[in-house]
Amino acid sequence: MKANPNKLTFASIETNRGLEAALGGERADAIGRVSHSGLKGRGGAGFPTGVKWNLAAAAQSDQKYVVCNADEGEPGTFKDRAILTDYADLVFEGMTIGGYAIGATRGILYLREEYTYLRRRLESVLARRRKEGWLGEGIGKRGDFHFDIEIRMGAGAYICGEETALIESLEGYRGEARNRPPFPVDTGFKNHPTIVNNVETFAWISCIFVKGEDWFKKLGTEKSSGLKLLSVSGDCAQPGVYEVPLGVTVADLLELVGGEDAKAVQIGGASGNCIPASEFERTIAFEDVPTGGSIIVFGPGRDMLTVAKNFMEFFVDESCGQCTPCREGNVKLLEGIEMLEQGTCSMHYLRELCALGETMQLASKCGLGQSSPNAFLSIVEHFKDEIMGRRPEAAAVQGA
Ligand code: NAI
Ligand code: SF4
Repeated sequence: MKANPNKLTFASIETNRGLEAALGGERADAIGRVSHSGLKGRGGAGFPTGVKWNLAAAAQSDQKYVVCNADEGEPGTFKDRAILTDYADLVFEGMTIGGYAIGATRGILYLREEYTYLRRRLESVLARRRKEGWLGEGIGKRGDFHFDIEIRMGAGAYICGEETALIESLEGYRGEARNRPPFPVDTGFKNHPTIVNNVETFAWISCIFVKGEDWFKKLGTEKSSGLKLLSVSGDCAQPGVYEVPLGVTVADLLELVGGEDAKAVQIGGASGNCIPASEFERTIAFEDVPTGGSIIVFGPGRDMLTVAKNFMEFFVDESCGQCTPCREGNVKLLEGIEMLEQGTCSMHYLRELCALGETMQLASKCGLGQSSPNAFLSIVEHFKDEIMGRRPEAAAVQGA
């Protein structure tokens, strides 16, 4: 399997044709087409987009919102940045289709602070779209459809990629996750029904309305239809943004990016799972190994304990501290890694740390704490021999 990583489907899509097609039908038709395509959320969780939009459309409210989650904070993920740089029209178009489908008049793009440099460019795309009549009052040939989009900036917190923390941040509060339910489709921004979708999800919406839901559905697998953008980094010859059909094996992906000698691949970023070479025939798909787009390749020389430490340091920094399993658990796992480095962690204590990780998965309030032990647990499972039994002097050399 060979492909040019720069040739994304988005490049072949004529701007606004998808929006025109959506506005040519009824609102319910638009949601029907999205549902039929089988599109699932491209931020990582894979919730069916048609179901989300249907719930928001059915909610009774005089105001509804469309929010694009561009707080791309997962370590190793940069595909949304690429989309916003080259295909912003498709994202804004997809948001406008979403507004039409659920009956919203306002859209908000929540842009991560580290992407501030993109803001001016994105504002100019919005200004042009207003001038051309694709935003504002009476969009396209629909005199009765009004919709506009504003850009709001994040402030560098990973937790604000979690949709309810993002909404808190939009409302001017500290970014902390809310309890769910109620879900944002019912009680979102300012307590109004809100769809929060990832940048890539909105871009695929625009493609689906041009190329057809059957085209999308035929790609990928039965449970994971369509194409997916992956941000590939780490120990490979050609890192970058790749478009693949869901269901691609890890081995095929490694061949594509020149990472065939990898000993492991972290799929789904810091919150994802570490897949060892013995499992490279597994597939990247919601029913097997899901990912929001982060693929980090670890070559034969990589020290997996250092990898685990790096991820746990990240979560200790980024936990919002609201709930005990995540606030305390991440610190305990990091301390355990430091004991492993020093060769002072017994097998019994390692088992206790794994049990703690499983408790965090179950008991943490939001996706951050529920997924933060994943990398630790999978590295312990697959690389126990490598990380156990270190001598203090070995640790000093590793850290040098
Ligand atoms: P989730 O599965 O709880 O929810 C996913 C989406 O479906 C949300 O929009 C939620 O509102 C909606 N949803 C779920 N159940 C619903 C229901 N019964 N009714 C209405 N709506 C419902 O996942 P979560 O916690 O929102 O996200 C976790 C995922 O985010 C992880 O899988 C991780 O891969 C990904 N992630 C992505 C990052 C990125 O930079 N792209 C950063 C960090 C995590
Ligand atoms: Fe905050 Fe972590 Fe609890 Fe989420 S799981 S609410 S990030 S402390």
